[in-house]
Amino acid sequence: MAFSPRKIGIIGSGLIGRSWAMIFASADYKVVVYDNSAAQLSNAKEEIDKQLHGLSEQNLLRGDIPVQKQIENIEFTTNFDACTKGAKYIQECIPELIDLKRKIFNDLDNVMSDESIVGSSTSAIPSSRFTNGLKHKSRMLVVHPTNPPYYVPLTELVPAPWTDSDVVDEVYRLMQEIRQVPVKLTKEVYGFVLPRVHHAVLMESWKMVQDGIISIEDVDKVMSDGLGTRYAFMGPLETRHLNFKGGFKDGCKPHVWEVSNDSGPNARLEGPLLEIIQEDFNKRIPLETLAERRAWRDTRIAALSKFKRDMSNCDNNA
Ligand SMILES: NC(=O)c1ccc[n+]([C@@H]2O[C@H](COP(=O)([O-])OP(=O)(O)OC[C@H]3O[C@@H](n4cnc5c(N)ncnc54)[C@H](O)[C@@H]3O)[C@@H](O)[C@H]2O)c1
Repeated sequence: MAFSPRKIGIIGSGLIGRSWAMIFASADYKVVVYDNSAAQLSNAKEEIDKQLHGLSEQNLLRGDIPVQKQIENIEFTTNFDACTKGAKYIQECIPELIDLKRKIFNDLDNVMSDESIVGSSTSAIPSSRFTNGLKHKSRMLVVHPTNPPYYVPLTELVPAPWTDSDVVDEVYRLMQEIRQVPVKLTKEVYGFVLPRVHHAVLMESWKMVQDGIISIEDVDKVMSDGLGTRYAFMGPLETRHLNFKGGFKDGCKPHVWEVSNDSGPNARLEGPLLEIIQEDFNKRIPLETLAERRAWRDTRIAALSKFKRDMSNCDNNA
């Protein structure tokens, strides 16, 4: 099969594979989704159809092409070669298990063309651990989406030591073209960047609850009704720059170092507090209602994402 600049292969049709398929289809790529489970594929097809129609009705569809065309842009197959051969770009979305990743990347190495690129959706495993020794390893990297990817566009590009920098740049442009927001890491780092920032916030919140300074419910409000409202539009560095008369340098003078040190060493998230927090959530959001609460979250994130898109159109037209 000849190399096709408009063909995208998706490996795995779970939550993340489905989202990538919808995102690429919205930019008018021909997407071929492969899964080794026919049942999963059939669920994915049904779910994508339902979701895209729902998004279209709510005016939340990505891209500029009609919903039916977006649906027709996605094919489903249990044939690995039909998905991968000749694809410009292949996104791996199988479970987070190193042995599975190594096996699938080995299989991909054997069929991909020299012009193709493979990105892994892995949340935490550096790609050097499963691309080492492969023929096409310079054309493989981590392309880590943020959940739920259809509405939260940030995508971390994490090269292995041997990933070609032109390949990273090419994926960067591809992500921009499909309206993701790519960020480039210069090297592999344990946990990547978004999880590290997320963990820092989680750690500080845990320590303050542990020290009895604030309740579980209230510490969450510090983000949802405080910092988070700004963070939807700008990061912590720009926030600092805007908050001080003399800008960022002024914002770094006050006691950031002292306050950070005062909160003590990092804690392991275990022991009695773990049980207490779980129990608290079990009462407020019982496990059997998690799917419902996630749907609630996604509706709000979808509305925010539309608002941000509209605001950015206003900025561009100003
Ligand atoms: N779920 C998240 O919030 C999230 C966010 C960012 C990244 N990720 C990463 O994305 C990847 C996929 O996550 P997910 O939540 O979609 O997983 P999932 O379990 O929902 O889906 C995995 C899919 O892969 C299929 N599969 C398993 N082995 C396969 C094989 N050998 N060949 C083809 N298909 C195979 C399964 O049938 C299933 O459909 C993981 O690496 C995960 O860490 C997940």
